[in-house]
Amino acid sequence: MVIGNVKIEGKLFLAPMADVTDFAFRQIAREFGASFSYTEMVSAKALTFGNRKTKDLLITSEIENPVAVQLFGSDKEVFKKALELEDLSKFQIIDLNMGCPAPKIVKNSDGSALMKDIKKASEILQTCVKHTDKPITVKIRLGFDKDVSLDFSKMLEDNGASAITIHGRTREEFYSGKVNLDAIAKVKACLKIPVIGNGDVVDNKTLMEMKETGVDAVMVGRGALGKPYIFSELLQKDIVVNKWDIINQHILLLRQHFSDDYISTYIKKHLLWYLKDEPCGTKVKLQICQEKSLNNCLLILQNFFKK
Ligand SMILES: Cc1cc2nc3c(=O)[nH]c(=O)nc-3n(C[C@H](O)[C@H](O)[C@H](O)COP(=O)(O)O)c2cc1C
Repeated sequence: MVIGNVKIEGKLFLAPMADVTDFAFRQIAREFGASFSYTEMVSAKALTFGNRKTKDLLITSEIENPVAVQLFGSDKEVFKKALELEDLSKFQIIDLNMGCPAPKIVKNSDGSALMKDIKKASEILQTCVKHTDKPITVKIRLGFDKDVSLDFSKMLEDNGASAITIHGRTREEFYSGKVNLDAIAKVKACLKIPVIGNGDVVDNKTLMEMKETGVDAVMVGRGALGKPYIFSELLQKDIVVNKWDIINQHILLLRQHFSDDYISTYIKKHLLWYLKDEPCGTKVKLQICQEKSLNNCLLILQNFFKK
């Protein structure tokens, strides 16, 4: 598929997930067949301040080309400044977050709060389109407290978005209930730009259901937690999954940029997800939670997987 001037091989995208989809995880997912990936959401404002931790979110690797950076914020002038930064030159697509439901984001009028203010959202998009040659895509929900997805997505198309991703829930619904596939199908039917469908895809059945909406590509989020190989499964590729190798690769890649102290805390949630469906994993999970040294965590896991 083509987004703006960017060609993407394949139709299975890895969702941006804050504090989860680090560059290493994304690289592994891409190796398992994810066709496209995004940085986790990055504050446009913090970028313009040159914040060190924010810059770390921009780490990417060659295998991710093409890749998108996802920005959040609600001030068009800040977006304009952020787009001028050299730091963004390695990204082929700029994605705007207009769907995040987190209270700390919404209270600053960012993320899904922009779906309550269509004028402000359109001004942000117009400004971004005007200030970069790169395709601008937008990730949305159905709306904030009600479904406004048709009007909102038409506005996005009319103002120069090159594609949209739609998660079929409102902000108020958060993650409850089931994704609204009918609403996604309606949006797809009335837009010319590519539409990426998102929500609740965890296996081939849910993938088929999402595909029936007619969307151009499908984005997988929570289904990839601890399972970056889900993309190979969804592509029905015959693969042998070696979790120990995946964990090792994840940590080795992180070690190229971060200290063991940082990784030992950060990686814990990933390790628990990797261990989720492992038989007799409970004892190991407990040991992992209590262990402070990354090397010791690796030893515990090596013993578990190699036994
Ligand atoms: C832990 C977590 C972090 C997330 N962070 C982001 C983010 O940074 N940007 C974004 O657009 N969506 C974010 N999302 C939303 C996902 O991209 C996706 O839209 C949502 O999880 C629904 O898809 P799923 O049912 O496949 O998980 C996040 C979701 C989770 C669970």
